[in-house]
Amino acid sequence: MAKQEDQFKKVVSHAKEYGYVFQSSEIYDGLSAVYDYAQNGVELKKNIRDYWWRAMVQMHDNIVGLDAAIFMHPTTWKASGHVDAFSDPLIDNKDSKKRYRADVLVEDYVGKLDTKIEKEVKKAAKRFGESFDKAQFLETNPRVLQYKEKGAAILKRLGQSLEKEDLADVKALIEELEIACPLSGSRNWTDVKQFNLMFGTKLGASAETAMDLYLRPETAQGIFVNFLNVQKTSRMKIPFGIAQTGKAFRNEIVARQFIFRMREFEQMEMQFFVKPGTQKEWYEKWKETRLKWHMSLGMGEDNYRFHDHEKLAHYADAATDIEFKFPFGFKELEGIHSRTDFDLKAHEEFSGKKLQYFDHEENKSYVPYVVETSIGLDRMFLAIFSNALQEEALENGTTRTVLKLPAVLAPTKAAVLPLVKKDGLPEIARQIIDDLKWDFNVIYDEKDAVGRRYRRQDANGTPFCITVDHETLNDNSVTIRHRDTMEQKRVKIEALKEIIKQETDVKTWLMKM
Ligand code: GAP
Repeated sequence: MAKQEDQFKKVVSHAKEYGYVFQSSEIYDGLSAVYDYAQNGVELKKNIRDYWWRAMVQMHDNIVGLDAAIFMHPTTWKASGHVDAFSDPLIDNKDSKKRYRADVLVEDYVGKLDTKIEKEVKKAAKRFGESFDKAQFLETNPRVLQYKEKGAAILKRLGQSLEKEDLADVKALIEELEIACPLSGSRNWTDVKQFNLMFGTKLGASAETAMDLYLRPETAQGIFVNFLNVQKTSRMKIPFGIAQTGKAFRNEIVARQFIFRMREFEQMEMQFFVKPGTQKEWYEKWKETRLKWHMSLGMGEDNYRFHDHEKLAHYADAATDIEFKFPFGFKELEGIHSRTDFDLKAHEEFSGKKLQYFDHEENKSYVPYVVETSIGLDRMFLAIFSNALQEEALENGTTRTVLKLPAVLAPTKAAVLPLVKKDGLPEIARQIIDDLKWDFNVIYDEKDAVGRRYRRQDANGTPFCITVDHETLNDNSVTIRHRDTMEQKRVKIEALKEIIKQETDVKTWLMKM
């Protein structure tokens, strides 16, 4: 646990030191769970968004984009159920006065059981060596089975209690499991209460006429209310999707773990409209497609798993999370939800307008069913960044800090370094930059010895360093150094563009899907 915490602290401090993420309003001591993306962070975030958009919109001829406003008519949120049901169960510890999400306290307890299972696996792998069969061990080891059964039973009970709104039983569960406040260590809890997560604001100049509004807690509703406009103007036939990226806001009870749970964050969502009765098939299809998208980034198959929901949201008939192994354990990264016709029907009812699709093949109108894929951009950023940050022991006995970002997402694709600041080398380096910058984000770096510059770029996540030296003056060749292997090759300046393109092109990476 301590090791995980240390690793996570390194992630947070590296993100600050290398210009990726800053605490918002830091000079005023910051604003809780609100963050700013700095010069490198904004590029990484843009590249992730683009990687998603290209995969979802550009590569699917039946998915189109949308950019709906953050402010929406307040009835939207009445119809969607957010006014009545978008709340989390909260509980306070009377000694530390700290507020927690009651369900998260229980889930963290189950997470500890998962950690115990992982420890058993590690121990057994060591004991049995080459002959160790992990899958068989997980299915047969009595201790592992006991932990699994206990975890499943706890989650089942939690799900049922939340479903029935039986908050007294959620409290009873916390007490039975003897969960203590991580701060005070005490088990002196208040009752569990529901807390609505939407931020309210006002539209209008005078207090008397101002209209109460909400900041959208999800981007999805902007898609639902525009469903028919988009369908008619694009002439899309079912099945088809509408995708959008944008800010969402939630007054989270406990916003922790850096950019994992924020109060202002960005979502990348896609609503896929299908014929009623086919939703299960599309739900499975999108589960598979989205997992492949994650896999294409090469962050390790073992770092992902599906977690099917026990407690379904008010709009869903099936739901799963793609969980990622963050430095603090497996947590939700993306949600895939079969949302039925709940939203469109509710908007029909509240607006009095029909939101139906005329199916020419069937010769009838119906309200489509919806399968949604919804991923937090900031959470994806954290997954990528924390997975990329590594300390590597080198052959010469030293260590290097390297940020092994997938090259397609790296903020800067190459740094161009003149070996010395004279003899015409800086001028050649500048010419290389002037040529490459039309296609890639590249930077010039001449400060410090070249070895230190390599280290700086490794820590910055830059996949290539291009060094201009005295040989360049004779034969127009430079050294290109690869961040991950540290391998250096002599190549002609004219070849640089193709080499960088091959490793950083979105197409190369998405083809792995
Ligand atoms: N439209 C469905 C929806 O919003 P959700 O599971 O509440 O579903 C989807 O959110 C995704 O948005 C999550 O999987 C997560 O990646 C991201 N997300 C949700 N709340 C967040 C928060 N407070 N901070 C950062 N990301 C968040």
